[in-house]
Amino acid sequence: MGRVVVVSGGGTGIGQAVAARFARDAAEVVIVGRRADALARAAAGIEAQGAGSVLTIAADLTDADQALRVRDEIVERHGKVDVVVANAGGNVTRKQAPTDFDVDRPELDRLLKVREHWQGNFELNVLTAVLLVEALADVLTDNGRIVLLSSIAAYRGSGNGSYGASKAALHPYAFDLSSALGERGVTVNVVAPGYIEETEFFGDTITEEWRENQRKQGHTGRVGTSTDIAETVHWLASPGAGHVTAQIVQVNGGAALGR
Ligand SMILES: NC(=O)c1ccc[n+]([C@@H]2O[C@H](COP(=O)([O-])OP(=O)(O)OC[C@H]3O[C@@H](n4cnc5c(N)ncnc54)[C@H](OP(=O)(O)O)[C@@H]3O)[C@@H](O)[C@H]2O)c1
Repeated sequence: MGRVVVVSGGGTGIGQAVAARFARDAAEVVIVGRRADALARAAAGIEAQGAGSVLTIAADLTDADQALRVRDEIVERHGKVDVVVANAGGNVTRKQAPTDFDVDRPELDRLLKVREHWQGNFELNVLTAVLLVEALADVLTDNGRIVLLSSIAAYRGSGNGSYGASKAALHPYAFDLSSALGERGVTVNVVAPGYIEETEFFGDTITEEWRENQRKQGHTGRVGTSTDIAETVHWLASPGAGHVTAQIVQVNGGAALGR
């Protein structure tokens, strides 16, 4: 059997590209997300490239019980996990309008909205990763690999703090995991992308001017692609990267430094 590679958020964007990259190695790929239809479309696309079958599991990884169900389904089908890519995430302030709270004080309404996006982004970016990793930790093989998805926003903010802060929270989690699991040969790393095109992250909010501004911030003359991230994750999961652990690998064409 090939390596069993679990990719959360594997139904779209970066996660789909990561799943497809591992499938090319004849790995047993498992993709997890909330929408069964998005997962089925991604699996069909990967399978159409002749890369073997993909197991899809529809689950909300902010829910501990559902994270355990994910583990149980994987163990039943494959009996082990070799690679975990905790990629599910996003910025709730880009995905949903804030709630119109039924309160008569504008200052309270404002704080309730602040609380909503901080809590939402921590659930979406921290809990989805932590609950998946913790659920799978006991079935992760020796010399296994864990890769968490952060963001350039962890370094330079995201407009209102909560998204970047939630991604930054993954960094010390990775260090602690690396320390705890390292003697088993397990490595734990974080990949922090800059702007990546053609995902569902930004919905339909991107203007040509904004995209051009992103492109100019980097040194490579282009914006990032899901393939850039997939290749980096794939390298971190390779046997040759066995001494690379507790690292944050930024993939942003130099945009974090600017020019
Ligand atoms: N695109 C960028 O420019 C960029 C830059 C830096 C970092 N990132 C990070 O890269 C990762 C992938 O994002 P993307 O750009 O590929 O955006 P995306 O296309 O929106 O992918 C996010 C994925 O996460 C899944 N997901 C969201 N909530 C979930 C939950 N509660 N449980 C399980 N799965 C869930 C989504 O599927 P369902 O909706 O079906 O659950 C979706 O497939 C994210 O962590 C994001 O923060 C992206």
